[in-house]
Amino acid sequence: MNAPTKADAFIPADLPEPTFEDLKHLPGMQPARIQMLRTIKFLQDPLGRSKEMVEDYGRVFRRQDFGGWGVSLVGPEANELVLFNKDKIFSSALGWNPVLENLFPHGLMLMDFDEHRIHRKALSVAFKEAPMKHYLGELNSGIARGIAGWSGAPEFKFYPAIKALTLDLAAASFLGVPWGPDAQKINTAFVDMVMASVAVVRKPLPLTQMRRGVKGREFMSSFFGKEIPGRRGKAGDDIFTQICNTTDDDGALLNDQAIIDHMNFLMMAAHDTTTSSISSIVHFLGAHPEWQDSIREQIHAVKAKTGGALTYETLGDLDVIELVMKESLRLIPPVPSMPRRALKDFVFMNHHIPAGSHVGINPMMTHRLADVWPDPERFDPLRFTPENSKGRHKYAWVPFGGGGHMCLGLHFAYMQVKSFFFHLLADNRIVHADSYRGEFAMFPIPKPKDGLPLRIERL
Ligand code: HEM
Repeated sequence: MNAPTKADAFIPADLPEPTFEDLKHLPGMQPARIQMLRTIKFLQDPLGRSKEMVEDYGRVFRRQDFGGWGVSLVGPEANELVLFNKDKIFSSALGWNPVLENLFPHGLMLMDFDEHRIHRKALSVAFKEAPMKHYLGELNSGIARGIAGWSGAPEFKFYPAIKALTLDLAAASFLGVPWGPDAQKINTAFVDMVMASVAVVRKPLPLTQMRRGVKGREFMSSFFGKEIPGRRGKAGDDIFTQICNTTDDDGALLNDQAIIDHMNFLMMAAHDTTTSSISSIVHFLGAHPEWQDSIREQIHAVKAKTGGALTYETLGDLDVIELVMKESLRLIPPVPSMPRRALKDFVFMNHHIPAGSHVGINPMMTHRLADVWPDPERFDPLRFTPENSKGRHKYAWVPFGGGGHMCLGLHFAYMQVKSFFFHLLADNRIVHADSYRGEFAMFPIPKPKDGLPLRIERL
C-alpha cells in the first residue's frame, strides 16, 4: 500500500496544550476546586448541563472536563467549520486518540488527511451496492430469526435484547461467521473491548474492565490474524472478506495489521451506535403509536409489491421510517459530541482559539437550538420532509458527522434500521411497559436508563 502520511508528519512538533490562562479570554468555566466532581456532575445530566452552559456562555465557550481544558463550539456554523475542515485546522486523530487509541488504534477516525483518504477509499469497497445487497439478505434473515420469540411474549427489556441481536447480526454480515458458539466467543471479546473504551480506569490493571478489554482485543486480533490468509483471494460478501481483498490506488493489498485494526474499529463504530439508534426509535414509536401505523402501511405496500420481502430496490419506499429515524437521531444522537484538536490558531465568531486546543462540537445541543429547530423538544418527523428541510443549514443535523470523516456506514445503518422495523412492525405493535421511565443516559452513547421495558403485541 502507498506509504501513507503518518500523523506526525502534519502535527507541529511543538503543539501546545492550552491551559486555563491561554483560554481565559473566552467565556466559560472557572477552574473547579475538585475537577472530578465537575465531570461527575456533567455525566449525571449531560443534556441539562450543556443547555445551561450554552445559556450562560453562548455558542463558544471554555470548558474543563475529563482532565483538561478545551473549547466547545455549538451550532451549524461550528459544525461546518470543524467537520468540513476546509483549512485543515482540525485533527480527528488527536481528538479521538485519548478515548480510542488503547483499544481501537489506527481506525479511520484516528487518521487524518492523506493517510485517512487512502484508507477510507480502500474501505469504501465494502459499502458498494453489490456487497450491500448481500448484507441486506443477512440482515433480513438474522432479524426475522432474532425477533421470532418477541411477539406475544411477556414484557422484556428491549435494550439488552437489541444489543445482543445487533452483535449476532454483525457476526454474520461483518465477519461471515454463522450464528453459534464461535460467534458467541467473538461477541464476548468484542463487548469487553467496547466497554473498556469508555472505562474510567484507563490502565489494564487486574480485575478492571480495561484488562478485560485488552484481552478482548488480543482475542479479536488473533481471530482476524488467523483468518486473513484464508480470505485473501477468495470471493466473499461479508465486510471482512471484502477488506482482506481491497487494494489501494497502486493495486496493493492492505497489510494484516491494518485489516485487524480496521475490522476492530468498524465493528465498534457500528455496534453501539446502531443499538442506540434503534432503541431511541422504539422509545419514540412507543410514545407516538400513530407513526407505527404509518410505517406499517408502507411495509404492507412493499410486501404487496415484492411478494413479502424487503428488497434492496424497495428500501427507498420506506421513507416514513426514515423520517422517524432522522427525528429520533436529532433528539438522541448516538454520538452526542465529537472531539478534535486544533493544529493551528483560528478565529470563530470573533473568538481567537489557540493551536493545540481540544475542540468539541456538540450535535446534542445543535439539534436543539430553537432558532434552527422550532419547539425543539417536540418529536415531529415531518421536520425532515424535503419541503420542511428547505433552507435548513447543511450542518444543522449531524448525527453521522460530516465532511471527510462522515460516517462510512451511514447507508448500512439506514438499511439495518429499515430491515429491523420492517420485520418488527409488519404484524406487531410496540407497547411501552407501564413502568418505563422514558429517560436516556446521553453519554458516552445514549441508552435507556432502565433498559426500555416493553411488550411486542401481535395485531
Ligand atoms: C445510526 C448509526 C450510526 C451513527 C449515528 C454513526 C455516527 C458516526 C459519526 C458521528 C461518525 C463521525 C465521527 C467524527 O467525525 O468524529 C462516524 C464515523 C464512522 N462510522 Fe458511523 N455511525 C453509525 C453506524 C455505523 C455503521 C453501521 C458503521 C459500519 C458498518 C459505521 C462506520 C463508521 C466509520 C468507519 C466511521 C469513520 C469514518 C471516517 O473517519 O472516515 N458507522 N459514525
